[in-house]
Amino acid sequence: MRSNLVAGNWKMCGDSASIGKLVAEMKASLPAEPGVDIAVFPPSVYLAQVLVGLSGSPVAVGNQNVCDQPSEGAYTGEVSASMLADVGCRYVIVGHSERRAMYGETSEQVAQKAKQALLQGLIPLVCVGETEAQRDEGATLEVISAQLKPIFSTLSAEQLRLIVVAYEPVWAIGTGKTASPDQAQEVHAFIRALFSKKDELLAKGLRILYGGSVKAANAGELFAQADIDGGLVGGASLDAQEFSAICRAAE
Ligand code: PGA
Repeated sequence: MRSNLVAGNWKMCGDSASIGKLVAEMKASLPAEPGVDIAVFPPSVYLAQVLVGLSGSPVAVGNQNVCDQPSEGAYTGEVSASMLADVGCRYVIVGHSERRAMYGETSEQVAQKAKQALLQGLIPLVCVGETEAQRDEGATLEVISAQLKPIFSTLSAEQLRLIVVAYEPVWAIGTGKTASPDQAQEVHAFIRALFSKKDELLAKGLRILYGGSVKAANAGELFAQADIDGGLVGGASLDAQEFSAICRAAE
């Protein structure tokens, strides 16, 4: 059976003082042995601080991005998968819609990033999602399928078994507008069906997270859906009480 995962994406928020406080509050409010996997994604300059702060806790740490190149060298401003693995990261987010929209990341690059992460033993959270205009046009499933296509052509069957997919409708991110449980479930079931075309067992074990204005008040009904295996949480993950309530809803 697949275990639920709750991931907190802190985006480009905080400073050493506020992040120190958030880590301390998280440690105090989360159960010592949660019945769910938990990970947080601080801005990369604070990774070391968060890794030390959360050591000995059940919360894993990941980066919000990773370089798509296989080895170190002349890639100014980039951070490699091997560096992230070296400092103790377990996960990376790839293909967040903010990176696709603002930094022009393509689905091919996203697949390369996922591959580099996997080669270094990191688990990639592959984000997909449609814009409001695409949903209004009835193109949601087509968009998701196109975003995942390079993932299927780039990763081996063994690698596909290790990834996590996050469905994040762009219109629900940071807007307070959550997809209804039915809307989210429809897309999650579609994603699982795409993977089952590859391999039924792989599809059964695939964790598919929902993201987009998840909060304690709506987490329970979202996580109760058959194909929703936890959440990728932005804004609400910056509040330790709210985040731990979301984690409990996923237990
Ligand atoms: P949000 O962000 O929870 O603030 O909507 C989710 C995300 O971008 O991962």
